[in-house]
Amino acid sequence: MTAASVPLLSCRNVSKQFGALAAVNDLSFDLAAGEMLGIGGPNGAGKTSLFEVISGLNPATAGAVLFEGRDISRLAPEAICHAGIARTFQLNASFERLSVRDNVRVAAYFGRSNRLMPGLRLGRAVDDQVDATLDAVGWRGDRNSLAGQLPVLDRKLLMLAGALATSPKLLLMDEPVGGLNPQEIDAMMEAVRRIASTGIAIILIEHVMRFLVALSPRVLIMHHGEKIYEGPPQGLVKDRQVIDVYLGEGASQRLGAFMGAGA
Ligand SMILES: Nc1ncnc2c1ncn2[C@@H]1O[C@H](COP(=O)(O)OP(=O)(O)OP(=O)(O)O)[C@@H](O)[C@H]1O
Ligand SMILES: [Mg+2]
Repeated sequence: MTAASVPLLSCRNVSKQFGALAAVNDLSFDLAAGEMLGIGGPNGAGKTSLFEVISGLNPATAGAVLFEGRDISRLAPEAICHAGIARTFQLNASFERLSVRDNVRVAAYFGRSNRLMPGLRLGRAVDDQVDATLDAVGWRGDRNSLAGQLPVLDRKLLMLAGALATSPKLLLMDEPVGGLNPQEIDAMMEAVRRIASTGIAIILIEHVMRFLVALSPRVLIMHHGEKIYEGPPQGLVKDRQVIDVYLGEGASQRLGAFMGAGA
């Protein structure tokens, strides 16, 4: 295999067992540099558990995760972040009593593998990154507001900015539009498109299927920890198992009409 053909990320027969429960069960897929992959599936399908495995917060019990050809399955989360993988969480995660700018500053600082220790010495290199990162997510509000006082979209954008500030090659996003209204979903879509256009690979987990299919040229659907579909979004609405266990007939027809209308 030549260096150019090594996938950015390769999950090989990955399993995550919680006692008797296989949250992820023998799952394999590859992702190329700069590629966008959408992951869907019912509640409890194992989507977040897969992110926990890739990001090292809850390592695989079997199988391997390769990043740029290197086995990262046993690395600590911080080392995986420094290797170039960042993530956002299903629920908001930010320092409530720090300002927007300071939240991103902390992420930029800890995302650097060559930071100065001990103590939090924020050099110009870190500061330069902060405003550029907030620009990249389309931040329009006050950058000195406290994170805990932000409305829901801004909190999600801030979490995204924190992940981006670590300069990832791969960004994992867990339900970025959960709880957002249609206008807010459009704003998040614009942010994700802007990030993707810079060449960062993205894996998106999302239940809002219009968002998922509009952004992802390839989707993967999980059920009981396993992959039940992998392919173009147009194939979803023709897949009997995906319709039966996830979409349902009505939503499947509406999604098909939406995609037919040029999503
Ligand atoms: N730390 C844990 N300990 C035990 N079981 C867990 C743990 N984390 C997740 N699970 C179980 O693993 C299964 C998969 O959960 P997971 O959160 O990965 O699903 P999901 O696809 O992200 O669902 P949702 O769409 O609701 O977010 C569920 O049955 C869940 O209860
Ligand atoms: Mg989840």
